[in-house]
Amino acid sequence: MRTPIIAGNWKMNLLNKDAETMVTELVPLVKDADCEVVLCVPYTDLLTVRKCVRGTNIKLGAQNVHWAESGAYTAEISASMLKELRIQYVVVGHSERRQYFGETNEKVNLRAKAALASKLRPIICIGETLEEREAGRMEDVLYTQVVECLKGFKSWDFDKSIIAYEPVWAIGTGKTASPEQANAACKFIRDTIKKKFSAKIADKIRIQYGGSMKGSNVKELMAMSEIDGGLIGGASLKADLFAEIVNYNK
Ligand code: PGA
Repeated sequence: MRTPIIAGNWKMNLLNKDAETMVTELVPLVKDADCEVVLCVPYTDLLTVRKCVRGTNIKLGAQNVHWAESGAYTAEISASMLKELRIQYVVVGHSERRQYFGETNEKVNLRAKAALASKLRPIICIGETLEEREAGRMEDVLYTQVVECLKGFKSWDFDKSIIAYEPVWAIGTGKTASPEQANAACKFIRDTIKKKFSAKIADKIRIQYGGSMKGSNVKELMAMSEIDGGLIGGASLKADLFAEIVNYNK
């Protein structure tokens, strides 16, 4: 049995005061959740949110991590810096990083491995663009992303890793993949992991869906056999909207 995991990705949103208000409102709304609840917030909100989630069932995550331990990498943040703040999760390879900041599978792999080496749990994002899907290349793209982003992973690394399948055309567009489309892609990812690693690993790894997930579609997405959670952007910024997703089976 895979424990469902619902994670919010605030992206570049919410100043400290707003972060505090949001999380203070969220805490009582999600306290009885049956799934794991995570908030991946801007670096500048980490300390504020950490204070608000202390002693609750909400876990804290960052949105990126550098692969080096320290050094001349202006503006970057290392895994041990996050670890020092007692962060548990970190998003790597988000499509916005790929699209706007030249992120490659190779770098995503380095970031994920650095996170794992510091006992952080990477949420590794993959997904095809609309152009790739329409050209019939979805499986090729996902295959390459899985193989390159998980390169060199040891079996125990998979216990700590989450895959987020996020079709780029569904992110922030209001367009959601149908439950069947999302499930088929997640199944393809799981089958690839089975082929490249093992059936046991494939069976255990949690795969989230991301892309305009909200209260009105979470139930049917979460009912699909291969979808173990969600990575939520827009709808994770408001406590009531995010709580509706977290409490999808109430
Ligand atoms: P969205 O973003 O929920 O706003 O579509 C999802 C994501 O980018 O992780």
